[in-house]
Amino acid sequence: MKAVIPAAGLGTRFLPATKAQPKEMLPVFDKPTIQYVVEEAVASGIDDILIITGKGKRSIEDHFDRSFELEYHLRENGKTDFLEQIESISELADIYFVRQKKQKGLGDAIYCSRKHIDGEPFAVLLGDTITRSKIPCTKTLMEVHEKYGASALAVETVPDEKIERYGIIKGKEVSPSTYLIEDMVEKPSSEVAPSNMAIMGRYVLESEIFDHIESIPPGFGGEIQLTDAMRLLDNIYGCVFDGKTFDIGNKVEWLKTSIEFAFEDPEARRDLVEYMREILD
Ligand code: UTP
Repeated sequence: MKAVIPAAGLGTRFLPATKAQPKEMLPVFDKPTIQYVVEEAVASGIDDILIITGKGKRSIEDHFDRSFELEYHLRENGKTDFLEQIESISELADIYFVRQKKQKGLGDAIYCSRKHIDGEPFAVLLGDTITRSKIPCTKTLMEVHEKYGASALAVETVPDEKIERYGIIKGKEVSPSTYLIEDMVEKPSSEVAPSNMAIMGRYVLESEIFDHIESIPPGFGGEIQLTDAMRLLDNIYGCVFDGKTFDIGNKVEWLKTSIEFAFEDPEARRDLVEYMREILD
């Protein structure tokens, strides 16, 4: 299965940091966000990845390319640990790029992948969302897709005050943690939302989705919404994600994620705890 990672958005919630650099390249502790996303696809068994980019996103391409000058420098200076890390990034998978000419929404970004996907089911991983779990989220969705022979997406329960940030589903439980989706709505208010189950940025979609994207008018915020196109699929399943999601498109969430990931490094944890005590005092 191929994967598509949309990363062409303007990142307006993170301005001015994202004026001249992609939010998907913002580091979370020691790696850019999009590298975690690519690693999830690879850990799910995917080796063909298409990244949707746009204006000002060249650094994403550079990050996954070889960097001969840097590699030479690290080799000459005996920095073999860094050298191995740098070389391995460009060997993670076959990574392709296509540009979304105008940021018309997530549905339109996905539509840019149709020629590369060429009629097969495919995975979608949002470039600004990191997941952590025992079994990679995308792998679980691939298994649900295989079991039911239909599209699948990951959902998680969110508190009322966060409902209006997400696409929300209404579903009927067909097996533990799996729902047959009856309806979904993009960014509803908590009063009209059909549930608290939010679509969190991981999907496996049948290629019919492209016909549906073509057929829908702009939706919420005047954008071509993937949620509106997914409502037209014959069958789609929602799978409750057994793990943790980190949305780095939001400044405070990004900072929290950076701290949480840094805490996994014992040395950084020690330093940070000491520093936090200091500033709290
Ligand atoms: P978001 O809606 O979170 O990204 O889309 P955004 O539009 O960049 O964010 P704000 O609201 O302006 O701050 C989720 C993912 O879809 C991509 C984004 O790059 C992000 O990774 N996306 C979004 C596109 O590729 N194209 C679009 O037109 C919109």
